[in-house]
Amino acid sequence: MADFEPKIIAFVCNWCTYAGADLTGTSRIKYASNVRIVRFPCTGRIDYMLLLKAFAEGADGIIVSGCHPNDCHYTSGNFHARRRWIMFRSLCDFMGIDTRRIMFSWVSAAEGAKWAEIVNTTVASIRELGPYTNYKRVANKPVKEVVNG
Ligand code: FES
Repeated sequence: MADFEPKIIAFVCNWCTYAGADLTGTSRIKYASNVRIVRFPCTGRIDYMLLLKAFAEGADGIIVSGCHPNDCHYTSGNFHARRRWIMFRSLCDFMGIDTRRIMFSWVSAAEGAKWAEIVNTTVASIRELGPYTNYKRVANKPVKEVVNG
């Protein structure tokens, strides 16, 4: 467990959080290297079933991040994402998925330091929770079978 390095998948919007993450790099701010970024045009475009897919494929934690409220480049995509997140949280509770493994945030293109802080905080909390294997796909076995044993 001491050697555990969490695998974090970040689903981010192109216009704010991706640019913010880029700023983190160009500003040479150091942060945990555990995160893999998947870029979407807007958080409103993120299908939350992809989060389940990420867990099934071995992710230990997930970050969803986009533009701040009223800054979405498509006007209201982030509000749609937030509403869907609230519904998805209920589904996670129903399925027994610990929602502490999913971080939902807003990061603008000017907030490189905030992005680093979110990644570091998420990595630290997932490290405390440990590896997530409850929803992980086992080779040649459907996810449902793995969950039900
Ligand atoms: Fe960033 Fe919509 S463009 S959340």
